[in-house]
Amino acid sequence: MILQQKTQQKTAFSPSPKRSVHVMTWGCQMNVYDSARMQDVLQPLGFAPVNTPEEAEIIILNTCHIRDKAAEKVFSELGRLRLIKEARKAHGQQTLIAVAGCVAQAEGEELLTRAPYVDIVLGPQTYHRLPELLTHVARTGKPVIDIDFPTEQKFDFLPHNKTPQTSHSPTAFLTIQEGCDKFCSFCVVPYTRGAECSRPVSAILEEAHRLVEAGARDISLLGQNVNAYHGTGPDGNLWSLAQLAYALADIPDLLRIRYTTSHPRDMHNALIMAHRDLPKLMPFLHLPIQSGSDRILRAMNRGHTANDYLAIVQRLREARPDIALSSDFIVGYPGETEQDFEATLHLVQQVGFALAYSFKYSPRPGTPAAEADGQVPEDVKNTRLQILQKILHDQQNAFNDQFVGRSIPVLLTSRGRKQGQIVGRSPWLQPVHINGSDHLIGQERLVHITARLSHSLLGNLDENKTSLPQ
Ligand code: SAH
Ligand code: SF4
Ligand code: F3S
Repeated sequence: MILQQKTQQKTAFSPSPKRSVHVMTWGCQMNVYDSARMQDVLQPLGFAPVNTPEEAEIIILNTCHIRDKAAEKVFSELGRLRLIKEARKAHGQQTLIAVAGCVAQAEGEELLTRAPYVDIVLGPQTYHRLPELLTHVARTGKPVIDIDFPTEQKFDFLPHNKTPQTSHSPTAFLTIQEGCDKFCSFCVVPYTRGAECSRPVSAILEEAHRLVEAGARDISLLGQNVNAYHGTGPDGNLWSLAQLAYALADIPDLLRIRYTTSHPRDMHNALIMAHRDLPKLMPFLHLPIQSGSDRILRAMNRGHTANDYLAIVQRLREARPDIALSSDFIVGYPGETEQDFEATLHLVQQVGFALAYSFKYSPRPGTPAAEADGQVPEDVKNTRLQILQKILHDQQNAFNDQFVGRSIPVLLTSRGRKQGQIVGRSPWLQPVHINGSDHLIGQERLVHITARLSHSLLGNLDENKTSLPQ
C-alpha cells in the first residue's frame, strides 16, 4: 500500500521510557543528519537509541543508492535483520524493520517484494511521518510504503522548540538545501531526493542558534547542491549561500562554518568573496569535478569544462590563499578513453588536492549513462582507479606533511580510541590527535603538530601560546 496522504490518526505508540530504536546509516552526510532527525521524531514517543539491532523494537536502515555496492549492502543487511526479527519473535518480542533513504525511494514496492519482512518503506522526504506509519503498521499488521515527494518541506514537521539530539557535539550538520536539478547523466540523486529545494533563512538561523547553545562550534551546512542555495530571507528576497554565511558568522559562539557539497556551476563570485571576508568560513572546499576530460564532462552533463574548474580554483586561491580543495572523481565513465583518463590525471596534478574521493563508474538503473554505449570493462576501471588513488593519496600526504612543526588551531571534539587521547579537527578538516583530558572537548586550542599519520595528524597542546591567531 502506498500512503498518499498525511493521515490525521493519532499515534497508537504511547510514550514509554522502555522503547528502543536502532538506526543504521549509509551514504552521505545528509543521511547522517536525517537519521538524527528520525530519532528526534521518535523521541517524544519514548524511543531511545540502542547500540545493536538485537535490542531494538524498531530497526531503521537509512540507505544510499548512489552506487550498486551501496544499494546491495542494504539487501545483505536485511537478510541478517530478518534472522534477528525471527529470533526476537521466538522470545515474544515484536520488531519492526523500516527501510528509509534513497534505496527506499528508488525501489518502493519492489523492496517489499524482495524483502517481505520489511514493515515500513519511507523516502528521504517523508520521515517526519514515521509515527503515523508506525501506528498504521501496528493497527493493520500490514507493511506500508510512503515515498511521496510532499510539497511541504519535511523540516516544517520537525519539532522546532526542541534541541536536536545530535547537538551535544562541538561539530554539527545542518541541512539547508535538498535535492538536485542538475541531472548529471550518471547520478540517481535527482530521482531519489527530488527537485532542488531550499529552507527559509529564519529556520536555518534558528536551528543554528539552538545547535550553538547546545555546544556546537563547527557547523557544516548540508545540501546535495549546497551552493545552489536560494532560501527566502527575512526581507522577503531570495538569499544566496554567501548571504547566509555572513548571517551565520554573526553568531558569536559559532567559530567555524563549512558547507558541502558544492557544484562548480554554482561557485559564484559572492561566495568566493565570502571566503576572503569571513575568517569563520573554513579554508576547505569540497568541489567535485568527476573528470578532467571536457569530452567526458560534456557526456556527464556537468555543464562546466576542466578550464572552468581551474579558473574557479585560481579565484578561490586568490581570495583565500590557504584554501584546501577536495573533490570527487569517477573513473571508467562510458566512453572514457586512455586519453580522457590522462586528462583527469593532468587536472589532478594542476590543482593539487588535499583530499579526494574516487569511484569506479557504477551504472544506475534509470539514469542515461547506464544505457550509453562504450561501457568500460571492470579490469580497466580497476587499473585506472588504482593509478588515480595512488596520486591522490600522495597529494593528501604532501598536503598534510606541510603542517608538521607548525602550530594550528584545533577544535577538540571527542575522546580518541586510546586512553587519554583527544581527537580534534583542524580548519582544513584534518583529524588531529593529542594527549589531553576530557575537559578540553569543545575548546579550540593551538596544537603543535609533531607527525603526520596515514589520514590524520598527531600533536601536543601548544602551551606557549594561549591565544589563537586572529
Ligand atoms: N551532490 C554531490 C555529490 C553526489 S554523490 C555532487 O554533485 O557532487 C557523491 C559522489 O558520488 C559524486 O560526486 C560522484 O563522484 C559519485 N557518484 C555518483 N553517482 C555515481 C555512479 N553512478 N558511479 C560512481 N560514482 C558515482
Ligand atoms: Fe548528482 Fe550531479 Fe546532482 Fe551532484 S550535481 S547530486 S552528481 S546529479
Ligand atoms: Fe546516497 Fe542518497 Fe546521499 S543516494 S549519497 S544517501 S543523497
